[in-house]
Amino acid sequence: MMSLSGITEVCPGNVDRVLMRAVCELLCEVWPKPGRTPESRLAAILEEFESYDGPQAQRPRALVLAEEGRAIAHAAVLPREIDLAGRRQVVAGLARVCTALDCRGRGLGELIVRAAWEPVDRGDFVASLFQTTPKVRPFYERLGAATVGNRVVNSLGADPVANPFWDGVVMRYPAAAEWPTGTIDLLGPGY
Ligand SMILES: CC(C)(COP(=O)(O)OP(=O)(O)OC[C@H]1O[C@@H](n2cnc3c(N)ncnc32)[C@H](O)[C@@H]1OP(=O)(O)O)[C@@H](O)C(=O)NCCC(=O)NCCS
Repeated sequence: MMSLSGITEVCPGNVDRVLMRAVCELLCEVWPKPGRTPESRLAAILEEFESYDGPQAQRPRALVLAEEGRAIAHAAVLPREIDLAGRRQVVAGLARVCTALDCRGRGLGELIVRAAWEPVDRGDFVASLFQTTPKVRPFYERLGAATVGNRVVNSLGADPVANPFWDGVVMRYPAAAEWPTGTIDLLGPGY
C-alpha cells in the first residue's frame, strides 16, 4: 500500500520550490525534450505564477501528489481569458497532467484531475478547456469531460487561423454544461 502525503496545491504566493523542482523532474521524465531541464521548466512555471495579477479564485496552481520527496502525480490549472463564441470568459486551462510511469493505473490521475477541477465545480471558472490525445480521451470522459467540436484559433498568433492546440483532441469539463458552437479564440498560445 502506497503511503500518500495528500494533494498539495502550489500557487502564487505559496510556492514550495523543492516540491516544484520535483514536479519539474516528473514533467521532464514524462515529456522529455532536448534542452528542456527541470531548472528551465521551474523557471517558466515560477514566471507564470509571478506574472499573475488576476482574482485569487482564478489563480494558476499546481496540484501535486508527492511521496518521499518525489512528485508522482501532477496537474496544472492555467487561468485563460478566451473568446468563447463571441463572449470573453475565463476558463481553467488544464495542462501537464501526468502520473509517474511506475505509479499509473492506481487512480492517482483521477485524484489529481478531480482536484484540479474543484474550482470549476465551485463555479470559480465557467468550465475547464484542454487538449489531449485520442488515447487519453476515455480517461477524461470517465471523469465527466466531453470533446469540443468548435474551431479553435489564436487570433494573436503568427497564423491567426491555425489551431494553437497540437494534441488532436480538445475537451471541456463539465460535459453537462451548456456550450456554444462558435469559434473559440484562445487569445494566446495553446497549452
Ligand atoms: C493519463 C495519465 C495521467 C493517467 O494517470 P493514472 O494515474 O494512470 O490514472 P488513473 O489510474 O486514475 O486512471 C487510469 C485509467 O485511464 C486509462 N488511461 C490513462 N492513460 C492512458 C493511456 N495513455 N492509454 C490508455 N489508457 C489510458 C487507463 O485505461 C486506466 O483505466 P483502468 O483503470 O480502467 O485501466 C497517465 O497515463 C499519464 O501520465 N500519461 C502520460 C501523460 C499524458 O498523456 N497526460 C495527459 C495529457 S492531457
